[in-house]
Amino acid sequence: MTHAETRDKFLKFFESRGHKIVPSSSLLPTDPSVLFTTAGMQQFKPYYTGEADPMKDFGSLNVASIQKCIRTSDIDEVGDESHLTFFEMLGNFSFGGPSTMLRTSYWKKEAIEYAHDFIVKEVGLKIDYVSVFAGENEVPADEESEKIWKSLNSNIGVRIMGRSDNFWGPTGDEGPCGPTTEIYVNGVEVWNLVFNQYYCLNGSTAKAVEPLKSPGIDTGMGLERLAMVMQKKNNIFETDLFEPIIKLAPLELDIRTKRIVADHARSISFLISDGVRPSNKDQGYVLRRLMRRVINYMSKSDQTLMHDIFAKIVEIYGQYYPKLNANEIIYEFDRERERFEKTLQQGLKELDIMDSVGAAEAFRLYESFGLPYEVVKEIAGKKATELTRESFDEEFKKHQAKSREGSKKKFGGHGLILDTGELKAGNEEELAKVTRLHTATHLLHASLRKVLGEEVHQAGSDITAERLRFDFTFPRKMTPEEIKQVEDMVNGAIKEDYTVTKKEMSYEEAIKSGALAFFKLKYPPTVNIFTIGGTEPAEVPFSRELCGGPHVTNTGAIGQLKITKEEAVSAGTRRIRATID
Ligand code: ALA
Repeated sequence: MTHAETRDKFLKFFESRGHKIVPSSSLLPTDPSVLFTTAGMQQFKPYYTGEADPMKDFGSLNVASIQKCIRTSDIDEVGDESHLTFFEMLGNFSFGGPSTMLRTSYWKKEAIEYAHDFIVKEVGLKIDYVSVFAGENEVPADEESEKIWKSLNSNIGVRIMGRSDNFWGPTGDEGPCGPTTEIYVNGVEVWNLVFNQYYCLNGSTAKAVEPLKSPGIDTGMGLERLAMVMQKKNNIFETDLFEPIIKLAPLELDIRTKRIVADHARSISFLISDGVRPSNKDQGYVLRRLMRRVINYMSKSDQTLMHDIFAKIVEIYGQYYPKLNANEIIYEFDRERERFEKTLQQGLKELDIMDSVGAAEAFRLYESFGLPYEVVKEIAGKKATELTRESFDEEFKKHQAKSREGSKKKFGGHGLILDTGELKAGNEEELAKVTRLHTATHLLHASLRKVLGEEVHQAGSDITAERLRFDFTFPRKMTPEEIKQVEDMVNGAIKEDYTVTKKEMSYEEAIKSGALAFFKLKYPPTVNIFTIGGTEPAEVPFSRELCGGPHVTNTGAIGQLKITKEEAVSAGTRRIRATID
């Protein structure tokens, strides 16, 4: 069965069982505490917390979707038989939980029956075994699911698993969570059924769980893995989703590298179609790293082969995701390659005149010219015998501690007392001003997304005592009405005098939240999330961003914002300048 038929079968199966089909949402979620959409449930989070009404939005308590997702936490495993950074997730969802007998939503029994019937009866696969939650801390063992499975098939193997395997969520730093039951076919996990029953705080490691306002079902089945077992292939790269792409990869690459190139090329294509552009921050940084990884892997091959790969990806996916545009992807990829090659050439020249290359030198080459550790190690050859991955990482950490110190230090009234790259201040007075402008920038970013849509995201920011300058992705000039609306919204948030709260998250929690594994060369072990407004767990904040600060403690301190200019920076990127008084 082709992937096209599989998609169709899944959606029809759930449509005929009272589910409304909902299109995939963007890879860039509205929830600013996560960088990417990592699961089908991301767009449905507010329906479990009771903040949004599914009847109003979908005319149904039950929905199904095929969601595009990005997960960078598994990046180091990409190239094996089943891990990817981009994938699609087939899912059915129900909002309402067990206590709503008179409504049409459903709970464990129906969710398990649907999954069983789809896998066994609809597509004729054999379930190896299933897993259920063992119970841990305050959450009891899921004996109900075990019974339901046994009632469907008394021979089915049931494995009882702990919290790290069979407990979902939350995405972001808080949200719906609950025990899961998972289905295994041909040795791989194909389907995860989540019983969202609690609201988890403080990341997934939290012990504290509160009952959820509107418990519900959230399921996710990777399309690539399902295609693999249905098409009787040994790995996902042999399915019709990948095989035509792999075929175009340069012959001289080994199979693992071909797979990485194919995987990253899909992520790159979809990120660009959702408006991301390579940059040194957030989503743009991930895109840049993916692109530069591909460019490095292809460094000895004909890089124009990537054009054919991108065109093939658009051919496979265009009918489901019409925003994919091969010309746009190729243009952005080639531009990034040119930028990368220029800095690499400079870096290689530097490397050439060095006598020996230790961790400090390697770090300087990385920081100034983007030369990755691997490239330095390889090209420097004998000059870098002392250089190890550990010593390089150590140097990186040292540097970060120093730059934090440095941004606090004063230079006796000369020079800058704050220079984070984004914010610059020469004295205390300026420091107070850039701090206010910085919080205003977060309000501006959130307001742009609320007014223009979730495709808008930050492409750059530069703040001096005089003004803020904010670059963001958006395909056209803003209308005067839109500019006014954004300005009013920021000033409204200032008037609300929201509190600005900072929360430190461990590196581990951040990884769980979706995307930060890729940032290991960029972020310290703990990262800060700044939330503006909405400090109660169930409230939606006005803004939430991963950021180094500094910020005002209350938005009332900002003053009045005035947008002074809106202009183009490049195709697809706009720039706003604004002042405060
Ligand atoms: N949200 C669950 C997952 O992504 C279904 O695995």
